[in-house]
Amino acid sequence: MLWWLFSGWLCAAAQDVQQGETLAALSGCGSCHTAPEGEPFAGGHAIQTSFGTFYGTNLSQSVTHGVGDWTYKDFERAMRRGRSPQGGPYFPAFPYPSFTQLTDADLRDLWAYLQTLPAVERPNQPHELHGLTGNRFLVRFWKLMYFNSGAYRDDKHQDDAWNRGAYRVNGPAHCGECHTPRNGLGAMKRGQWMAGGDLPPEKGPNLTPTGLVGWSESELASYLEDGQDPEGDYAGSGMGRVIREGTSQISAEDRAAIATYIAGLPARGDASEEKPPEAGEGKESWEDW
Ligand code: HEC
Ligand code: HEC
Repeated sequence: MLWWLFSGWLCAAAQDVQQGETLAALSGCGSCHTAPEGEPFAGGHAIQTSFGTFYGTNLSQSVTHGVGDWTYKDFERAMRRGRSPQGGPYFPAFPYPSFTQLTDADLRDLWAYLQTLPAVERPNQPHELHGLTGNRFLVRFWKLMYFNSGAYRDDKHQDDAWNRGAYRVNGPAHCGECHTPRNGLGAMKRGQWMAGGDLPPEKGPNLTPTGLVGWSESELASYLEDGQDPEGDYAGSGMGRVIREGTSQISAEDRAAIATYIAGLPARGDASEEKPPEAGEGKESWEDW
């Protein structure tokens, strides 16, 4: 009897780890937290931005360099609130403005998976940032202006498939981080959601009907599985990796739900078509910031 209870618990735990692994793949945790040729999740991948170079940290179970001594609460605070166990703010190059939308259940599965990673004693590399953008203290103000913390809530006006897709796109898969234009301080412009990324290096194209002309929902879903677009070309740059390591690993239902959500986006103009401010209108409005 006791054994039966225990093995039931083991099965459930194994399932959580498995789901956490798939979620980590969709979220690209391994991409940003693994150096080229490095040990998985031991940190060191360079993320080049217009603010400088960030290095993904060691997420392995090393107590000295990784998250080996973290509690689940520490992990939740990092993902949901963008705050370190010491209370300091993280730079949004760590896409917690998207990850904050993860559900509690998904955060727990992710944590269960991370705890199975072997400890790798690889020290973290300091970020190389230009001028003031390297000032972690100022990130507090950035967060006050642009960061909204909270798990995804279903839109009651939409059906289950749409919500399933919206959650995955905006939360774990953080598609908007590469496909939405940003303001001068690197915050995504919510009014131009998915209208095309404009900051190097990952300028994801416009995914609204303005950009994705003539793609059917099933063509979208199959692109997310094998990387081939309706013209027969294969996804390049960052997107190839997103598909290979992420969207090809999830269920067909999840891919279809993502396609449903993307196909339903309202048309928004391409970022490159934005007009520069008229002469005399030099001051940026609050919204542009
Ligand atoms: C686009 C790149 C990117 C992706 C994707 C990414 N991270 Fe990170 N992550 C970073 C960077 C950069 C930092 C360092 C932030 C800082 O120094 O303020 C970081 C920091 C962290 C930290 C804090 C570590 C510490 O030692 O304080 C945790 C925890 C974390 N990431 C977890 C994750 C998880 C879990 C995922 C997948 C769900 C993930 N990250 C995906 C770039 C990324
Ligand atoms: C790391 C940045 C990044 C992330 C995250 C990302 N994309 Fe992309 N995406 C790109 C880039 C760059 C391209 C252009 C690829 C190319 O040139 O072949 C692209 C291309 C695409 C295309 C083809 C568009 C066209 O007009 O050819 C689709 C569709 C797409 N992405 C959907 C998604 C979805 C859905 C997600 C989330 C699951 C996502 N992307 C996440 C960077 C990203």
